[in-house]
Amino acid sequence: MKDIIIALDGHSACGKSTLAKALARELKYVYIDSGAMYRAVTFYAMEEGLITEGEAIDRNLIIEHLSNINISFNYNSRTGKSETYLNGNNVEEIIRTIEVSRNVSEVSKIKEVREKLVEFQQRLGKNKAIVMDGRDIGTAVFPNAKLKLWITANNEIRVARRYKELLEKGYKVSLKDVEENVAQRDFEDSNRKESPLVKAEDAIVLDNSYLSKDKTLRKALEFAYEAMKK
Ligand code: DC
Repeated sequence: MKDIIIALDGHSACGKSTLAKALARELKYVYIDSGAMYRAVTFYAMEEGLITEGEAIDRNLIIEHLSNINISFNYNSRTGKSETYLNGNNVEEIIRTIEVSRNVSEVSKIKEVREKLVEFQQRLGKNKAIVMDGRDIGTAVFPNAKLKLWITANNEIRVARRYKELLEKGYKVSLKDVEENVAQRDFEDSNRKESPLVKAEDAIVLDNSYLSKDKTLRKALEFAYEAMKK
């Protein structure tokens, strides 16, 4: 069986990363969370005061700072997970807050940000045997990926899942906050000029609204083994 690139795309909170991690574990592939990269750049911009609450984002300032931003992923043997680092600091948890989520779509519209991150993502996929999830993986990052999955679930289920996840992590958020954020990101991600979120023509649709995590994984694995034969 050949090593392949598996691209997973879809809207916010549709279960992409849960499935991508499970697939990578099962296939002994590397998992890369491309959203974490956009979140890390956003967090950097917030920390450096390049984004202030309620004000327009200074795109030029963010572009000027791009060369100071170094993102990497390191495996944590205690948790068994790969974690996101920004300039040498572990930011895996802090980039998941609702404050970062509120700003990330604006930052990910910036062409220069996308160029830098896409180039990094393509480098990570050089040796194949990788599962990457995001919004433009099957369209812009790896248009030739052997397997592209378009993950989807209905809106209510997506919001409820994300709300539960944030509460479990101890964040104080309301269901309304999460609902608004998911709707806003769906809109912004799908309507931006640079690499908008669209299903690749050759992506296979996997709707997990009423599938257990295990059933979803089994289905995705079937597609993966099929793609490895080609
Ligand atoms: O997958 P996520 O929710 O952590 O992604 C956070 C944001 O990053 C998402 O709202 C849009 C942006 N993103 C993107 O533009 N392209 C990607 N490949 C991944 C994420």
